[in-house]
Amino acid sequence: MTKEEKKQTATKINWYPGHMQKAKIQIQESLKMVDIVIEIRDARIPFSSENPLLRDIIAQKPRLIVLNKKDMADPRQTEEWLGHLRNNTDHAIAVDAVNDNLKQIIPSIVKEILKVKIEKAKARGIRKKMLRAMVVGIPNVGKSTFINGVVKKKVAKSENRPGVTKSLQWIKIHEDIELLDTPGVLWPRFADEAVAINLALIGSLNDQVVDKKMLVKQALLHLHDFYPEKLKQRYGIVFDSFDLEEMLDTIAVNKNFLLKDNKKDINKTIDFILTDIRNNRIDNVTWEFWCEQNQ
Ligand code: G4P
Repeated sequence: MTKEEKKQTATKINWYPGHMQKAKIQIQESLKMVDIVIEIRDARIPFSSENPLLRDIIAQKPRLIVLNKKDMADPRQTEEWLGHLRNNTDHAIAVDAVNDNLKQIIPSIVKEILKVKIEKAKARGIRKKMLRAMVVGIPNVGKSTFINGVVKKKVAKSENRPGVTKSLQWIKIHEDIELLDTPGVLWPRFADEAVAINLALIGSLNDQVVDKKMLVKQALLHLHDFYPEKLKQRYGIVFDSFDLEEMLDTIAVNKNFLLKDNKKDINKTIDFILTDIRNNRIDNVTWEFWCEQNQ
């Protein structure tokens, strides 16, 4: 399989009720064996990259929510999300799984979260309690990269296809912490159109699922409302009020995307903007804010 084909498989999510049920059972089974769940989300879309059923599946287990790809998100928004995500059972951090030293960061956080459990084990005479963790998340949030970083060696890439059964293996990541070597792949919250748009914007959902012009409209509107300086910087456009057609026309002209008869090539312009977003050429943008999700 070529790299491009692999990417296509990763982004073409085909979840059916049967697949969801099977994935749910697999994760539930694995959960029985772990002390903590590490849920990876994308820092650019912390709400849309959540699996809505995870909370029910993991019951009262401690959860470490990891907002990954923090290098691509807006640092101020990431801080805001972290503050709101933390509660009695949930802990939250933001990382860049490609560059951060996860092998050092994660074990100490896991031990801190599970310190009561460790103390209880000590009181029962168990000097070194082995702690077990598992990593879960929807496709493309960076689960494999995260596990590779924690383990500091290449671990097999998880199958994003639902219902693929793998034998369970544990990897020692610290003297008293083990990690399930393959992550649990959850399905996203696709029923919600705004969520599908966000997933498609960052390239985690196939373009065929959502109309590209609508995607670009949402993206430009968000940039216009919250990051106007980035619109100016990247496309040289400044608009007082939002006008999609006018914006696309101006970007087409600025980029010289013109057809033979000097008509603007709007399709090329749309593809260009989407590629910009997915390749992080408009950097440090968070596509959904805490306040929008929790009004
Ligand atoms: P998954 O197992 O959850 O499906 O995700 P995976 O680790 O395969 O990561 C998906 C893509 O996201 C990969 O890029 C990976 O390099 C990138 N990625 C993961 N974590 C981070 C992060 O913290 N910051 C940034 N900037 N990127 C991250 P790819 O283009 O699909 O592959 P490649 O570039 O690694 O070849």
